[in-house]
Amino acid sequence: MNHIFTRVSIRKYQDRPVEKEKTMEILRAAMQAPSAANQQPWEFYVVTNKEKLQALSEVSPYAGMTKDAPVAIVAAYRKNCLLPMYAQIDLSIAMENLWLETVAQGLGGVWLGIAPMEDRMEEVEDILDIPDHLRAFAIFPYGYPAEEREQQDRFEESRIHYVE
Ligand SMILES: Cc1cc2nc3c(=O)[nH]c(=O)nc-3n(C[C@H](O)[C@H](O)[C@H](O)COP(=O)(O)O)c2cc1C
Repeated sequence: MNHIFTRVSIRKYQDRPVEKEKTMEILRAAMQAPSAANQQPWEFYVVTNKEKLQALSEVSPYAGMTKDAPVAIVAAYRKNCLLPMYAQIDLSIAMENLWLETVAQGLGGVWLGIAPMEDRMEEVEDILDIPDHLRAFAIFPYGYPAEEREQQDRFEESRIHYVE
């Protein structure tokens, strides 16, 4: 899959809205992710409200680009899913799907770490009025890229250990 090898973090966005159809395709890819016991613990908040984007940009020292993004997806998970110990892992897989589909749609974004830091999770939940049965997991600001970067080649043959 070529987008695996071209995806990079995009932290600068054009002042141009993202079509709702593109966001829908991104979320379709996210929800196609595998999950433990197929529990699909995810919920997604699509944020375009400027004040909320500004507030989200302040939840960590590394989230500043969120205020300049036309849209951000906040991924959350249900606390009471079948296998809660796997919920954050399930969400991580959904986030990677989402990120790769963003590239396929000609867009760019960046995963901002919220979970497992309890203070950041609570702050995001407060900003978006996320109900008690959900936990905030990550923020993903995205848009039409206003920067270009090459992906590093991270292949390291020495990391492979054959057991024959
Ligand atoms: C779990 C996770 C949390 C991250 N949190 C942040 C963040 O808070 N702010 C940020 O600018 N980038 C964040 N990133 C992006 C990483 O810094 C980036 O993926 C990494 O440097 C590799 O660069 P690349 O995405 O361009 O390949 C995060 C990525 C992951 C997977």
